[in-house]
Amino acid sequence: MDKASLRREMRRRRRAVSRSESRQAGIRLASSLHSNPAFCRSPRVAVYLRNDGEIDTSHLIQRLRQRGVEVFLPVLHPLKKGHLAFIRYDNNTPMRRNCYGISEPDFRYGQKVPARFLSTICLPLVAFDESGNRIGMGGGYYDRTLAFCRRPGVRPRLIGCAYEFQKLPALPADGWDIPLSAIATNVRLRTVRNNPD
Ligand SMILES: Nc1ncnc2c1ncn2[C@@H]1O[C@H](COP(=O)(O)OP(=O)(O)OP(=O)(O)O)[C@@H](O)[C@H]1O
Ligand SMILES: [Mg+2]
Repeated sequence: MDKASLRREMRRRRRAVSRSESRQAGIRLASSLHSNPAFCRSPRVAVYLRNDGEIDTSHLIQRLRQRGVEVFLPVLHPLKKGHLAFIRYDNNTPMRRNCYGISEPDFRYGQKVPARFLSTICLPLVAFDESGNRIGMGGGYYDRTLAFCRRPGVRPRLIGCAYEFQKLPALPADGWDIPLSAIATNVRLRTVRNNPD
């Protein structure tokens, strides 16, 4: 199946999960992530706010804040088209809705950090496979923003966050797709083989 058909089918399945099931799964997701020593050592972590049936991150965010971890959210970059910026997120962060209706920090007031200074980025996804291939919503936002991860040097760990049922055998991957370092679900965390993290 091509990316578009897989995306359609998996988004449908994802949206069929109830809010309370998503919240429960989100608690287990936070545990899977915290089973990873490198995640527990990350001082600056980017997450996302649940949209379109994605697994809930509210418990994860709460747990990170309690541990004193700096939390960031992606924002559609107003100047660099097709790219994301990352902005510090706490209880006082001014928020707005972007063109997709997703709540995001207001770029004008936010404290921005370049993606390469983040220790870990938790990415939402529509489907993943065990090799770290990821299908997102189809905007190419994460792929463009994280294209620098192909070059050698310091880079954030890229952890896909999903329900276990979003795992599929061997996904199609394009040249521009940036592979994940690991995938965390409501069941477990999988480190991608051949990945130094
Ligand atoms: N580094 C890049 N430079 C230019 N265009 C890119 C780049 N990465 C992706 N794109 C474009 O983005 C489009 C969508 O890519 P893709 O289908 O992989 O999205 P996705 O990974 O599902 O989306 P997202 O990253 O937003 O979750 C593609 O048509 C591709 O041309
Ligand atoms: Mg992609």
